[in-house]
Amino acid sequence: MPNQTIDLMMNRKSIRKYKPDVPTDEIIHTIVKAGLQAPFASQLCSLIITREADKHPFNAPIAFYFLLDFHRMELIMKKRGWENVSCNLWIYHLGMQDVTLAGENMVIAAESLGLGSCYIGMTPFAAKQIAKRHKLPKRVFPVVQLAMGYPDEDKPPRPRYPLEFSLFENEYPEFTDEQINEAMKVMDDGYLAQDYYRNPDIMIPLQGEREEIFDYDNYSWTEHISRKWGQWIPSPDKLLKQFKECEFDLTE
Ligand SMILES: Cc1cc2nc3c(=O)[nH]c(=O)nc-3n(C[C@H](O)[C@H](O)[C@H](O)COP(=O)(O)O)c2cc1C
Repeated sequence: MPNQTIDLMMNRKSIRKYKPDVPTDEIIHTIVKAGLQAPFASQLCSLIITREADKHPFNAPIAFYFLLDFHRMELIMKKRGWENVSCNLWIYHLGMQDVTLAGENMVIAAESLGLGSCYIGMTPFAAKQIAKRHKLPKRVFPVVQLAMGYPDEDKPPRPRYPLEFSLFENEYPEFTDEQINEAMKVMDDGYLAQDYYRNPDIMIPLQGEREEIFDYDNYSWTEHISRKWGQWIPSPDKLLKQFKECEFDLTE
């Protein structure tokens, strides 16, 4: 089924090496407008753009902070004589979706214009610092950063789980060992074929008693992602603090 849009989506990959060329404002505005044309729950997404390649991940020429922005909503509600009563968890839930949908629309729009991108996920842990640097008002939370620019690398697309491991007709299945092994193999073989972890040297070190039995010949996605979730951020405290600093106490 030849289709330009789908081909573009199937060939997209995160870009971690960029040419220094800065896209024109016309191109940037086209991409951002396409992003914001995504479906929204409440238009809770706004963005900060920065053009400081030396400070950006992978020295990308431009980068965006995606903001979960309830400030604008409160400005509008005030003019209408209303005050928000919704809990912050619900605002966060819908806001994350507004931000995510706009972000991915931008990624695809950028791709169609020859630009690549890569999300940076640890942004929320630096929320207070980002808020200060970019003068974010209260009730605005930086969710994620997106580095963008013209690619200076051409890697093949990264694998995904087989469709039957992700799409279930009517009922969620009980997976067989074979299906789990197959899904793991597809992912691990795909990342190993690209030597994905070796060159940036990003094997996650083991904490505690576990003995290291991997090297870059067999360390791949399923071990990497297991090490993340098996050792990552057991306490919510640091993250909750960042939300609180931006006036989003998620328990209220
Ligand atoms: C929310 C989010 C956060 C991410 N954070 C990072 C990051 O901090 N550093 C990085 O190099 N890639 C990051 N990525 C990119 C993923 O590693 C990448 O999308 C995934 O490995 C699949 O590869 P692909 O995008 O090339 O298909 C992130 C992606 C998402 C969606």
